[in-house]
Amino acid sequence: MKIGVLTGGGDCPGLNAVIRGVVKASLQRGWEVCGIEDGFDGLLHPEKCRPLTLEDVRGILPRGGTILGTTNRGNPFSYPLMRDGKVELVDVSGEVVSRIRQLGISALVVIGGDGSLKIALDLMRRGVPIVGVPKTIDNDLCGTDVTFGYNTAVQTATDALDRLHSTAESHHRVMILEVMGRYAGWIALESGIAGGADVILIPEIPYDIEKVCGAIVKRGKAGRRFSVIVTAEGAFPKGGDRVVKEAAGGRSVVERLGGVGELISRELGRFLEMDVRVTVLGHLQRGGTPTTFDRVLGSRFGVKAVELLAEGAFGQMACLRGREIASFPIEDAVGRLNVVDPQGEMVRQAEALGIMLGR
Ligand code: F6P
Repeated sequence: MKIGVLTGGGDCPGLNAVIRGVVKASLQRGWEVCGIEDGFDGLLHPEKCRPLTLEDVRGILPRGGTILGTTNRGNPFSYPLMRDGKVELVDVSGEVVSRIRQLGISALVVIGGDGSLKIALDLMRRGVPIVGVPKTIDNDLCGTDVTFGYNTAVQTATDALDRLHSTAESHHRVMILEVMGRYAGWIALESGIAGGADVILIPEIPYDIEKVCGAIVKRGKAGRRFSVIVTAEGAFPKGGDRVVKEAAGGRSVVERLGGVGELISRELGRFLEMDVRVTVLGHLQRGGTPTTFDRVLGSRFGVKAVELLAEGAFGQMACLRGREIASFPIEDAVGRLNVVDPQGEMVRQAEALGIMLGR
């Protein structure tokens, strides 16, 4: 049996642990593994498919990124091709399916988030047997308690908050940290709790800037002359919209967010006398070595993907349920988001800790 493995969408700490898990578990069964570079894009270019051996995955556990490369622009059902000087979106999925057959690949492991897993489902419908592995630092994918990469991102954001705390306190300033999280505020919420933030703003709870100011003023009256705010990039004011940096449709398939930290800073400036500074953590959250948790989760997901292939459980993805690795239908995982429940336990606990959630 020869299987293919690819990583799609944005990169994420722990991708290499998954690839290594897939390769090791497959080789033990006497299978061959074909590594496909740059997501589904690799299936359109013969030179982007190569055998993966033990030698290829040696020493990659602590490495960030993906040894296979990735892209969030290679959807074969809507592939950008230059025609008459204009970019046209063309369905090249037929070519992808024949390439998979030509390569002698009998099944694919797709490691990706919502977008890549949706493409995987569509390819399944065209007859390609696939299993999935859920990936995203945002932790917004349904069907698994947690995605790999998320833990590392939260750790990076927490480290940043720790550093911002000391400078906020020294200068008696308001420090705003903008973290990733387009539609889900998990990174902001958990890093905010871990890093002792005073205010946490998430997309699930549109914020009221006057109340945010009120919380900072109240802290000042209690002798706390600084405040630390962590905001998800997708947070937005009550009655307002997300801050979009680049609209979808150009080089970017989905709209790029960014800038809410600056917006909050300007809004605070209207009410407060204090200095406000903004730090945008950006792709630092996606890069670098994965935490122990993500290395273990990624490795277990990789092994599980191979077990699912062996069972013929196509259309399933590996998932974490409690402490166990299990499986979940990709079909039920995609197209809806795992977001923070504004009335849920974690939000209530954060508020019980005295953290202001913007409402
Ligand atoms: O979905 C993961 C994510 O990191 C989001 O949090 C963020 O908005 C987006 O990817 C950034 O994507 P890009 O690398 O294309 O700028």
